[in-house]
Amino acid sequence: MMTLRQRYLELIKSAVLNELYPELEAQLLYTVLCTAHEQPVDLELFWQAREDVSLRDAITQAKRNGETIHLRLAPGHVRRNQPDLRNYTEYAHSMVGRRRLDHLQQCVEQILTDNIPGDLLEAGVWRGGCCMLLRAVLAAHEVHDRVVWAADSFAGVPKSSHASDLDYPLDASILPVLSVDQETVENIMRRYHLLDDQMRFLPGWFEQSLQHAEIGQLALLRIDADLYSSTDAVLQALYHKLQPGGWIIIDDYGILPPCREAVDAFRQQHNIHTALQPIDDHAVAWRKQAG
Ligand SMILES: C[S@@+](CC[C@H](N)C(=O)[O-])C[C@H]1O[C@@H](n2cnc3c(N)ncnc32)[C@H](O)[C@@H]1O
Repeated sequence: MMTLRQRYLELIKSAVLNELYPELEAQLLYTVLCTAHEQPVDLELFWQAREDVSLRDAITQAKRNGETIHLRLAPGHVRRNQPDLRNYTEYAHSMVGRRRLDHLQQCVEQILTDNIPGDLLEAGVWRGGCCMLLRAVLAAHEVHDRVVWAADSFAGVPKSSHASDLDYPLDASILPVLSVDQETVENIMRRYHLLDDQMRFLPGWFEQSLQHAEIGQLALLRIDADLYSSTDAVLQALYHKLQPGGWIIIDDYGILPPCREAVDAFRQQHNIHTALQPIDDHAVAWRKQAG
């Protein structure tokens, strides 16, 4: 039997990933596909989409792993090839997927059980879903002496400047979906009743905003910043604040080579040999050792 706390946290994760209304999302996906293929929306197919197993399966799979939807459309839906859509992200408050949210919750609960001191910080917030889960776990365990830090430009990814990032132009002129302003994030958090004085914002480019920020000890550091330059800036500014026994999570290690390169270089420079634990195909984590 699930406790009330478990039920609350499950509901938060489902809401963040928009898992509660798969029928609506299937209909949205159908209309987006029609638009992408310059096809008119057929009202009969629009209503059938609610029960379309292939659409629902594609959405569920993408939400589980935090990945792009791979569609196998039933004949009649669209006539041309499928486009590569990021639909699941368009309708959710986090793009990280279920496995990474479950793991994030487990990390915080382990930190609380083991009394690892410090706050929780995410660098690379987007619509704020992971920060909301962090805040919700603190609330569910009635923790009042830790805060969640939400660090972001709130203007998307910077233009590539580091040599390793040049093949990965992700800035707002190319990927505007990654640019979410702070007011929008705050409004989303308010809807969940998770915006209060235990949620703190650190706006600005990591390269400038983190070095002198008034952040004390950290028990959890979640980096979701895509690029070499962004990932490196966070590691250089904050890793020394992570307490022994604290968790560091690198969201893009498995899929973005510049991020992986930055992490490998940092670990080498700082003689960090703790094994990386894979969470899914995208993300890895390790627990900081003493010394
Ligand atoms: C992939 S999104 C984060 C996804 C989010 N964690 C979630 O749960 O869905 C990457 C975020 O990193 C931010 N970002 C990347 N590089 C940055 C930098 N150098 N300074 C500030 N923000 C940065 C972007 O604005 C964007 O919101």
